[in-house]
Amino acid sequence: MAAYGSGSLISFEGIEGCGKSTQIILLAKRLRAAQKEVVISREPGATPLGAKLRALLLDPAYSPDALTELLLYLADRREHRRQVIAPALQRGALVLVDRYVDSTWVYQGFARDEVEPSLIEKLNRLVVGDDWPKLTFVLDCPAPVGLGRARERNRETGVEGVADRFEQRHLDFHESVRQGFLVLAKVEKERFRVIDADREIETIHDDIWREFSLKYAIN
Ligand code: TMP
Repeated sequence: MAAYGSGSLISFEGIEGCGKSTQIILLAKRLRAAQKEVVISREPGATPLGAKLRALLLDPAYSPDALTELLLYLADRREHRRQVIAPALQRGALVLVDRYVDSTWVYQGFARDEVEPSLIEKLNRLVVGDDWPKLTFVLDCPAPVGLGRARERNRETGVEGVADRFEQRHLDFHESVRQGFLVLAKVEKERFRVIDADREIETIHDDIWREFSLKYAIN
């Protein structure tokens, strides 16, 4: 059982448009109502240097090879850990992060299939040390559902037609990303919780809250 009173890192993973950020906000609201310090963060792009790396990584004008892409995500993570995650954990906060180490294993390793996943595992460990997630929610939904939502979000925010470099990839790539997260979840059952994300927002939140409460022994 994880300790609720001290700092803890919880990551949210899944394909584009699976609803991670909505669910992070709902969980944070509930925890803050219980007087808990919650830090919401995301990758890539949570620090000033990271914001620049994010812009480069998502720009369709560039198509770096898999190793270059991997190193850029790791640079973003290292800075994120130093500036945001480690200090928050030391204060005893709960850190809810939208994508983290598993996205790299899945996107750059499993789905791109150009860098050995065991190398990614080693580099991830080097970059984050002990700041590994205690609990990871995979919001699972079929790729067409997620991509449909991502498109809808772009329309609402006025960036219709400006899909980023990852959204432009084929459906097979996104399906493979989905499978990658499910593979990880099968291997590391203690840390992962797979949540069916093709449902109403409140129903998904209820499941996340139930799993969170069990893990941290909250009544
Ligand atoms: P976002 O859309 O969830 O903000 O994530 C931006 C994109 O970056 C998304 O397509 C997934 C991708 N990504 C990786 O490929 N590797 C990583 O390590 C991370 C954190 C994100």
